[in-house]
Amino acid sequence: LSTIYLLLPAAMANMAPVVAGRLRFWPQLNIPIDGNHRIFGQPIFGAGKTWRGLLVGCIAAVLTCGLQAMLYQLGWIRTLSPINFFQVNWFIFGLVAGLGALVGDIAKSFVKRQVHIGSGQPWPVFDQLDFLAGFVIATWWLFPWHSNRIWVAIIITLIMHPLANIIGFLLKIKKVWW
Ligand code: CTP
Ligand code: MG
Repeated sequence: LSTIYLLLPAAMANMAPVVAGRLRFWPQLNIPIDGNHRIFGQPIFGAGKTWRGLLVGCIAAVLTCGLQAMLYQLGWIRTLSPINFFQVNWFIFGLVAGLGALVGDIAKSFVKRQVHIGSGQPWPVFDQLDFLAGFVIATWWLFPWHSNRIWVAIIITLIMHPLANIIGFLLKIKKVWW
């Protein structure tokens, strides 16, 4: 449970771009980060990685972390949260978590294009763990990641990610169920 709680800002960062896309939020920011450019004959990241996604994802992570820092005042939440919000600044942690998760996702898209898998096509395991890898690496200097914790996070993500996607698909937020 404490690992789920720890992953929440990154998970929100990962989901927010999909919701923002569905709601056609901030259409002016629906611009591909790679500017439709190609490298080695392939799109750099592809049309699925937009400035809007990056921005709303970071905002979602910061807001989630702010809420967690507020709830930290409550005793029972304090025992659940692996992060000590009296020591760690929620804004910095949230921003680093969101940026890390989204840069992880974007980096995966770069590799995915280079191995000739199109935008939105499934790439099992990589599609699920991209944001987690980015989150763990980016927060390494803020949080003592223990290998056991990372394994638990991987297992949780591999279970929760497909569940979230199926719910998103049923709610017609997501076009595909993966
Ligand atoms: N999205 C976005 N900006 C981001 C990440 C995601 O706008 N930085 C939105 C896009 O509408 C995208 C959707 O969220 O289509 C789903 O995200 P994801 O599954 O990560 O992207 P894919 O479209 O599947 O592209 P890829 O194959 O590169 O992962
Ligand atoms: Mg995808």
